[in-house]
Amino acid sequence: MISVNPFAVLAESVSPVFMQAFVVLMVLLIVIGTLLDIIHKKNVRYFFENAKKAKLSATKKLSTGERISVISKTLVSDIATTSELGAGKRRVAHLLGMYGTLLFWIGSGVMIFCYSNASSDTPSFWPIIWHVGAIMTVLGGSWFWFFLRVDVYSEAQPWYRIIKADLFVLALVASSLTGLIWSYLQSLDLNDRWDDKVFLVLFIVSNLVLFGGVYWSKFAHMFYKPGAAIQKNLAEADGSRDNLPPEADAPKQFGLGISRENPKHY
Ligand code: HEM
Repeated sequence: MISVNPFAVLAESVSPVFMQAFVVLMVLLIVIGTLLDIIHKKNVRYFFENAKKAKLSATKKLSTGERISVISKTLVSDIATTSELGAGKRRVAHLLGMYGTLLFWIGSGVMIFCYSNASSDTPSFWPIIWHVGAIMTVLGGSWFWFFLRVDVYSEAQPWYRIIKADLFVLALVASSLTGLIWSYLQSLDLNDRWDDKVFLVLFIVSNLVLFGGVYWSKFAHMFYKPGAAIQKNLAEADGSRDNLPPEADAPKQFGLGISRENPKHY
């Protein structure tokens, strides 16, 4: 199963054009949902106005080379390793989910646009990327949702309490999980049995919820977070520090309190 392209098998009964149109529709839903979110929250306008204001208090003009260096370091550290989450399981779970999702989406795009004819000879690399990505996403997302999300981890809410904020992580896990089960059932070659078709429908529905729900979910954080990290590091390098006071040049004296327990009250 892991080295079989499920979209090429599906192409025996569904034209690849439908699959490609579905992917294009999902991309359009991301763009529309994110733009509506930006208009509604006015966050990007605030972000640029704030950056312009902070620039006035810059103590140093950064050269293009320095800017490129700050941005590259942010890409490699803050964004690629989500360093904002510190060391520990929260970051490991996020990295599993983030890279899993990227592998799953890239694998889907390549297989649907390049190898989705029933006669396609897909290099086994791509189905493996797709299946491994889906497994990583299910593991990372479930770990986060069952054990690490704030209302369960810090507020003692039961794991089965579902609120709107869970839309993104649950739809993400559902799309990977139903995709995996669909691929497995299809590989069993059950002919006219209903099982794989049911999971194909669930796979389609969970993708519609994931991509159609961008406006209501936390989906767009994957665009906002990198932008905010770059701005924060540029503001530190040019001395404007987002108009925050500089760190005190004095020994840290917080008493015992700060090391009494690990931070977990978010
Ligand atoms: C494909 C890209 C990404 C995926 C699939 C992804 C997935 C997720 C998921 C499922 C959550 C949990 C959401 C929830 O609170 O219910 C989350 C939270 C978070 N993500 Fe991402 N993310 C991505 C990219 C990024 C990037 C690029 C950054 C930072 C540069 C980032 C930073 C965060 C942070 C700080 C949280 C909050 C974590 C917490 O509450 O413990 N994410 N992400």
